[in-house]
Amino acid sequence: MDLTKVTTLERFILDQERFHPDATGELTNLLYDVALAAKMIGAQIRRAGLLDILGSAKATNVQGEMQQKLDVLANEIMKNALNHTGRVCAMASEEDEELIPIPAGYSPGKYAVLFDPLDGSSNIDVNAAVGTIFSIYTRVTTSGPGTLADVLQPGNRVVAAGYVMYGSSVMMVYSGGHGVHGFTLDPTIGEFVLSHNNICTPTSGKYYSVNESNFFRWSRGIQLAVRGFHGEDPTRIQGKNSRYIGSLVADFHRNLIGGGVFMYPADTKNPRGKLRLLYECVPMAFIAEAAGGKATDGTRRILDLVPTALHQRVPLVIGGASDVDYVKAILEAMEETG
Ligand code: AHG
Ligand code: MN
Ligand code: MN
Repeated sequence: MDLTKVTTLERFILDQERFHPDATGELTNLLYDVALAAKMIGAQIRRAGLLDILGSAKATNVQGEMQQKLDVLANEIMKNALNHTGRVCAMASEEDEELIPIPAGYSPGKYAVLFDPLDGSSNIDVNAAVGTIFSIYTRVTTSGPGTLADVLQPGNRVVAAGYVMYGSSVMMVYSGGHGVHGFTLDPTIGEFVLSHNNICTPTSGKYYSVNESNFFRWSRGIQLAVRGFHGEDPTRIQGKNSRYIGSLVADFHRNLIGGGVFMYPADTKNPRGKLRLLYECVPMAFIAEAAGGKATDGTRRILDLVPTALHQRVPLVIGGASDVDYVKAILEAMEETG
């Protein structure tokens, strides 16, 4: 490795502007704003064991789940990194019930940004990996403050999306539609540097990731598919190894690199699945497809679903293309929809 030369995130995304002859550099700067927020969130997470920010804040978020203190902090960091720049017209966050407007005094810009500021936050207390997930859309309204129409767009209109994983190192993985690229934070220089150029995911992977404690709450089709992953259906699919952290970013990232399929299907406790279409499923689906994989709600492409509410949930099957197709074929044969 040549230690005298690095490709920083900034240099890389500026370079990607060649795919967009009409680019103004605004999207590059916006991604850089997200990277700054990620560094700030990462720094807080690193200090979490030292400060009184572990554990639950005395609030519940809009899904009624316990909101961890770092969720609150990460949410504020994201909003404050984005709201004053003139690049964003509105935001939506897993932690805010309503659309997040741009504060008075700042001009609204051309993009809408949606995020899950801290994903997998229940893992913080046990020092396991967590993440931030984001997606960026061009606004559909023409001027003034952004509206719900700007954030309730289908995933096939995403301009760029990605996630940051706060693991043994901090990594940002993003796609602007032309490949998926990973950057690792070099803490000695405070920069994300290109470490994984053009990530491609295997069509059939070695891992399957699902919360198997829900087995008896799943539909017959999902049970059958998971039994296929166990190795019960060797003429159609090879048995896989099980890996499940309970942190979407970490589970997805492992499968993206190593190959595999992640599922959070509907179950009798979560009849629409658990994960949120806008903050979790769409950005990850965008990344999966840009890496050669697929993402469905079991049968339908995630990126084609038209959102109707900010916090709607959807079942998710995501990963290697043939693994995702395997689940779809089973569900269709059983006449089950996602
Ligand atoms: P969040 O911390 O943003 O609420 O997300 C947690 C999610 C996701 O990261 C993970 O895949 C899933 O919850 C795990 O759910 P189970 O504990 O039900 O398996
Ligand atoms: Mn989440
Ligand atoms: Mn979250």
